[in-house]
Amino acid sequence: MSLDKVLSKIDADLPDATERLLELLRIPSISTDPAFADHCQTAADWLVADLQSLGVPATKRQTPGHPMVVGHVEGEGPHILFYGHYDVQPVDPLDLWDNDPFDPQIEDTAKGKVIRGRGSSDDKGQLMTFVEACRAWKEVNGTLPCRITFFFEGEEESGSPSLVPFMHENADELRADIALICDTGLFESKTPAIVTMLRGLLGEEFTITGPTLDLHSGMYGGIAMNPIRVMSNVVASLHDENGRVTIPNFYDGVQDLSDELEAQWQGLAFDHATFLGDVGLSKPAGEQDRTPLEMIWSRPTCEVNGIWGGYTGDGFKTVLPSKANAKISFRLVGDQDPDAIRANFRQMVQDQLPEDCSVEFHGHSSGRASITETTAPAFEQARAALTTEWGVQAAYVGCGGSIPIAGHFQNILGTTPMLVGFGKDDDAIHSPNEKYDLSSFHHGMRSWARILDALT
Ligand code: BES
Ligand code: ZN
Repeated sequence: MSLDKVLSKIDADLPDATERLLELLRIPSISTDPAFADHCQTAADWLVADLQSLGVPATKRQTPGHPMVVGHVEGEGPHILFYGHYDVQPVDPLDLWDNDPFDPQIEDTAKGKVIRGRGSSDDKGQLMTFVEACRAWKEVNGTLPCRITFFFEGEEESGSPSLVPFMHENADELRADIALICDTGLFESKTPAIVTMLRGLLGEEFTITGPTLDLHSGMYGGIAMNPIRVMSNVVASLHDENGRVTIPNFYDGVQDLSDELEAQWQGLAFDHATFLGDVGLSKPAGEQDRTPLEMIWSRPTCEVNGIWGGYTGDGFKTVLPSKANAKISFRLVGDQDPDAIRANFRQMVQDQLPEDCSVEFHGHSSGRASITETTAPAFEQARAALTTEWGVQAAYVGCGGSIPIAGHFQNILGTTPMLVGFGKDDDAIHSPNEKYDLSSFHHGMRSWARILDALT
């Protein structure tokens, strides 16, 4: 049977597929840093050439930011769109990497072979699982199984500024029967999963200014207001003693879990002790009346991502700083309105400013949460395919991260997104020494072959 031949082809070609992935990983396509813009172009060119090498006419499509890559093949049956992103996160702190993040290596570890390098898991390795499954399919059968659109983005890690306009301008070209997205993980690193809930994201950066210049803390200490003191109070006021966010009306639009979802999640028996233990923690720190899975999937958050000011270099400097800064991100769920939360947050900060202090805000990207209906037959078909490949019943799960395009597929194109990915909790995405298990790559490719077979 042809699926078996495709699976055998994937097995046989794993070394070559891995080499192709390593080539893509060598391109430092960091989207948020303008110094790497040329490398984003190179990564897009590489993908165009790679798609063309498997007979998919593809083009690089310029945007005001980094380019998109779009390729189409015609065929019978459903029109499937596949999305992945070729951009990666910055690599700092570089000194915590054991090797050059853009000189990827295959490493033997106690848990098996891994592909080590920035983007190996998020998202180049994942993106290539689908491309390589298509390559094997084409080589065995001479054609791909159905009409497929490949759609790769280079700005996902920096808030996708060009994405919505591009999707509006090219809606007819991109609209499909289903949009497959490979940018998520396995559940607890072992159970294949289809993500049905993603949190939204809102970013805020702000600077509190006190004195007009940095001051001698002996000469002015005691009489001058220190903006870091103000910043500390503001940051400390964002949560109460039970872990609840205190911004007025923050929970508007947040719904409790349906009984059905609650029962389903209980069945997942999430082991939060291991999840936290793997990163040196033990106690869930979110809203104390919520379960660990709710904390990471269905409850909103407010997290300080960075805070700085004054003298932070080596040694000691007795300074009373002029400015204090913070970056804060909110993960949003349900119908929470990013604009309302932004306004209420800013007002809450303003209300706490003492005389002589001022604040300047800089808003970062925002996007709402999204929930996918799993009623289309494709979901159960894909779930069965995943279950067969991994030998473990595939689960419908939530995801605490944000993938803005999932909502855009639904809202702009009317195309249902289906999120399937093979990352593991210990992949260290966005962190030093990011890796992708070779088994994720291999079974990922095999999973897509099975899913394509099941959907067509
Ligand atoms: N692949 C991640 C989303 C993700 C995170 C999936 C955790 C599974 C587990 C994605 O590339 C990502 O990191 N998105 C950003 C969104 C952003 C910068 C707008 C995120 O969630 O921070
Ligand atoms: Zn990603």
